[in-house]
Amino acid sequence: MSNIEALKQEIVETVDAANDMQELESLRINVLGKKGRITDMMKSLGQMSPDQRKEMGQSLNLLKNEITQKIESRAEVLKNKELNQRLENEKMDMTLSIRPEQKGSIHPISQTIEEMVSIFATMGFTVAEGPEIEDDFHNFTALNFPPEHPARQMHDTFYLPDDPEKKSDDAHLLLRTHTSTTQIHVMQNTKPPIRIIVPGRTFRSDYDMTHTPMFHQLEGLVIDKTSHMGHLKHCLTTFCKKFFAVEDLPVRFRPSYFPFTEPSAEMDIGCTHKDGKLKIGAGSNWMEILGCGMVHPNVLSNCGIDPEEYQGFAFGMGVERVAMLKYGIPDLRTFFESDIRWLRHYGFGPI
Ligand code: PHE
Repeated sequence: MSNIEALKQEIVETVDAANDMQELESLRINVLGKKGRITDMMKSLGQMSPDQRKEMGQSLNLLKNEITQKIESRAEVLKNKELNQRLENEKMDMTLSIRPEQKGSIHPISQTIEEMVSIFATMGFTVAEGPEIEDDFHNFTALNFPPEHPARQMHDTFYLPDDPEKKSDDAHLLLRTHTSTTQIHVMQNTKPPIRIIVPGRTFRSDYDMTHTPMFHQLEGLVIDKTSHMGHLKHCLTTFCKKFFAVEDLPVRFRPSYFPFTEPSAEMDIGCTHKDGKLKIGAGSNWMEILGCGMVHPNVLSNCGIDPEEYQGFAFGMGVERVAMLKYGIPDLRTFFESDIRWLRHYGFGPI
């Protein structure tokens, strides 16, 4: 047997005997590394005669390839073995009970959005989302707010530094003051029929018991050829009855004004105030709950939709507001104070 054959056999045996990746790696360095045995032999080729060198060179290259392959396949085996061992040892006891002092809970905002989405889903609405940083066009102009219109001031807008790339007045950047901005994005990019709801953060510079600079709204938009005010009323009445779980909930629609709807209305639901507590349902009082109306023809045109062909309705409501009413939370500001005692009281179990 030639020297090389003998060497090969010896190395193969040690490779097969390697029991873990560490052992295999030091073996590899020993044989194929910079100062390894095969590498050393390669270096000695220089001193040989050309014929010898050619023959020896070929055999050494062959040996090197064979050993490299051998090591690779052994590595494969060892890695699998190690993984199996880890899987055997690293057991996780799924039946172990949770640490009660660390129990988390679902924030009332998340819970409320979840409930709203699932009710509207039964009426065929899908969820759409839009950016929180907007431009003047999407927040106001496209929604039919004329320039200098007092309604713009009513929104207590947070403006951002202008984007230097954009010149027109419509390009001023701001934090969206309502989710109606997403109506515009969706109408610009979708051919009707459209039936969406948009839950999301909104921003206005205001702070008291019933206002925080960041709050949530849920917007709704329906565009097709036939939807009318009757559909709007039925849709929102159905929603409120299900959301507040009051089957005979009285509702009323009062005329109102929004630049982007015509006619516009505000919806009230029945309630009673008793012993300083509010109860939703038939009673002597009314509570305003949302704004709504038929989408203004100008808004449709601004989005490239022909108002002669299409029509529809929109609505928007404050998520915190309906959560406060449903769960009897008296102060809006507490939603965002991250007080763990408050969360324990008003939070929801994850299951
Ligand atoms: N965007 C309005 C607001 O923030 C609410 C609204 C939405 C009214 C859609 C009508 C239609 O007050």
